[in-house]
Amino acid sequence: MVKKKTGLLSGLIGMSLLLAACGGNEDAATTTPATTDEETKEAGVVNLYTSRHYETDDVLFDQFTEETGIDVNVVKGEADELGERLSREGEATEADLYYTADAGRLHWAKEKGLLQPVESDVLNENIAENYRDTENEWFGLTKRARVIVYAKDRVQPEDLSTYEALAEDQWNKKVLIRSSDNVYNQSLVASFISLNGADAAKEWAQGIAGNMARDPEGGDRDQAKAVVAGIGDVAVMNTYYFGQLLNSEDPEEVKVVEQLGVFFPNQETNGTHVNVSGAGVTKHAKNKENAIALLEFLSSEDAQGQFSEANFEYPVNENVEPAELLASWGEFKEQDLNLSELGKYNADAVKLMNEAGWK
Ligand SMILES: [Fe+2]
Repeated sequence: MVKKKTGLLSGLIGMSLLLAACGGNEDAATTTPATTDEETKEAGVVNLYTSRHYETDDVLFDQFTEETGIDVNVVKGEADELGERLSREGEATEADLYYTADAGRLHWAKEKGLLQPVESDVLNENIAENYRDTENEWFGLTKRARVIVYAKDRVQPEDLSTYEALAEDQWNKKVLIRSSDNVYNQSLVASFISLNGADAAKEWAQGIAGNMARDPEGGDRDQAKAVVAGIGDVAVMNTYYFGQLLNSEDPEEVKVVEQLGVFFPNQETNGTHVNVSGAGVTKHAKNKENAIALLEFLSSEDAQGQFSEANFEYPVNENVEPAELLASWGEFKEQDLNLSELGKYNADAVKLMNEAGWK
């Protein structure tokens, strides 16, 4: 497939940052050599800092260029590094869009003054309100659920109910979940703070820390593999990893997911935790209109369908059906939460997890 230009911006991105993109070894990415091409900038460009590293995104950027003539220059890196870089560069930044996983991180960028509000009827129409910033500084583009996966030979779906139940004695030494450094878990706990209050969230974090099958290590996929290896019985994982493993070129990874079931917790209570990856126009964007055009394109039915079919993410555009694999798990009730809350309570979540002994 066609490699993207890394354009004007590559410079500092090292392999270590790329490897860190989504946590540890689970999301190794590749980069392309830097090229400088002032001419394409004059012809119309949008410069992107992204922590995503999926072929689907590259395909979509190419399609956008074909349709609009606007070149997409991509700098890939680890989310926090790119955010810090954006902050450090200030007005001088070349980045027009900051594109990353997790509403908590997007909120952080907003709070740091790195983004700007965007008025777009297309975005407001395409993206359900819960999945965009209340002041339109960032927009969710893909959705994921943080579910429980379980060993089908040892656990029945009837044994499972809620996130809260995983903190009970029944699951002592059986729960696999990654570290509290990870923003997905921070956002999970932030959602509990918002919905249930800080005391209940802390009690949960303590229960989970006590029920862990091992000290946290690796990414979400490693938790799934550890379930199959018999280290624990259940794991907490984002849904798209299930699809990625199932469609892996490594037959061992395919075998792993064949032994796992997907369970949507809290269906009888306050819903399964969802999060987004998304993007915001940077405060000092030099190509603001092009950046908005790219956001609008990525929220379109066509692009939303591709995110789901090829990368197993849920569409944020309600007119688009999830891919077959996702649909096969059934519909589910989500937490009723504006995702800005995840950012609002991030610092509290980190503190509380530390106090709970969640490594
Ligand atoms: Fe991820």
